[in-house]
Amino acid sequence: MGFITHIPGTNPVIKPSPHAKAKGVGVIGLHEGRTLLLSLASRTSKAFPVAGCDVNPEKIAASKAELPELFFTSDYKAMLARPEVEIVAIYTPDAHHAEHIIGAFEAGKDVICTKPIVNSFEHARQVLEAGRRTGRRLMVGQSTRFFEPFRRQRAAHGRGELGEIELIDTHYIHRMDWLYEKSPWAATETDWVFLGLSHPIDLLRWYLGRITQVQAWSATSDLGRRYRLSGPDIYTVNVIAESGRLGRAMGHYGVHELPTARNCIECVLYGSRSTSLAQYHDMRHVYLAQDGTEITEDHLYAGRHYYYNSEVHGMHYGEFANYAEYFAGCLIDGVPNSPNLEEAVETLCVMEAVRRSAGQGGRPVELGPMLQEVGLSKGSP
Ligand SMILES: NC(=O)c1ccc[n+]([C@@H]2O[C@H](COP(=O)([O-])OP(=O)(O)OC[C@H]3O[C@@H](n4cnc5c(N)ncnc54)[C@H](O)[C@@H]3O)[C@@H](O)[C@H]2O)c1
Repeated sequence: MGFITHIPGTNPVIKPSPHAKAKGVGVIGLHEGRTLLLSLASRTSKAFPVAGCDVNPEKIAASKAELPELFFTSDYKAMLARPEVEIVAIYTPDAHHAEHIIGAFEAGKDVICTKPIVNSFEHARQVLEAGRRTGRRLMVGQSTRFFEPFRRQRAAHGRGELGEIELIDTHYIHRMDWLYEKSPWAATETDWVFLGLSHPIDLLRWYLGRITQVQAWSATSDLGRRYRLSGPDIYTVNVIAESGRLGRAMGHYGVHELPTARNCIECVLYGSRSTSLAQYHDMRHVYLAQDGTEITEDHLYAGRHYYYNSEVHGMHYGEFANYAEYFAGCLIDGVPNSPNLEEAVETLCVMEAVRRSAGQGGRPVELGPMLQEVGLSKGSP
């Protein structure tokens, strides 16, 4: 992954000058998608907002009030028909992603899709087929990878400062009653393995490469029972990679949060030379220097305008800008992006393997047959 435009300490956010080949972006789903539109209007140079689409007129009105010059519609086909929309960015509920991705590919657009790319094995097979048939490109908006401490942790790993990663330990825990009230589909139309756990599972896949076997257990919290969830909201997961390296992930979405002990998302890399920790929402990157000194980089004050739009721990402005800028840059320069369609489908298979293993009381699930079934041959991506 390349480094993006933001310089920590740039505060408040200053819009960079537009790139000569900047790409126009149309966004469907204007709740989290509104965050992307505003980020494109204020933080990126290689991508800029041109259109928004939502079936809810109130969501259109709210975005239009902030960005009146854009084209807004409730008709997705009308947005896809516009030539200035070069990238379609999808922020509809998870179960609609496949339909919206395939529609965009068939209209000749490249796609940013928020995580998870889809929320079923069957949809994964369909989007992979459509991508190969149309030759269009896709980027999954794995926001955690693009949050400042996680970018710095990855860069330190890339410089060899951690040595070989011997174990990765990662989680996303967050109390979610507010989400069930705002978006009832999150309780009944998907599974937490695709919603919240998609963050730590993507981190496992990012650091470990191809995962070959998964073993998982699940349970339902008191909060989950009260909201009558269709699936569990607590998961513990162990994985082993083709390389023999190990990882584990945890998710709990009815938890009583204790942020001092556990940030919402954390990734601990245990390497042969050093150990490091990246945190979300707090913006800390903690690691051991070569002399054994523990160093804490705290980006909260330098980065709060860019990442949180000045709201204390508000959501995702900086990460969304970072991945949109990165993907537009990859398209402009004709270079590959990550996570791309094939990588995303492989990671989706890990999520599905977790769901299957937990559904069978922790029976280990092999990834090989699933990758073949979904259309990923042994060697790819
Ligand atoms: N960290 C992250 O990257 C992050 C964070 C939160 C949510 N998400 C993802 O973003 C997506 C949206 O989540 P949200 O919290 O904004 O959900 P939401 O329910 O608040 O908003 C979804 C929006 O999509 C609109 N919509 C639904 N069906 C549509 C259709 N067929 N055509 C056009 N518009 C349609 C709805 O009217 C609504 O405005 C989900 O996939 C979620 O998993 C990602």
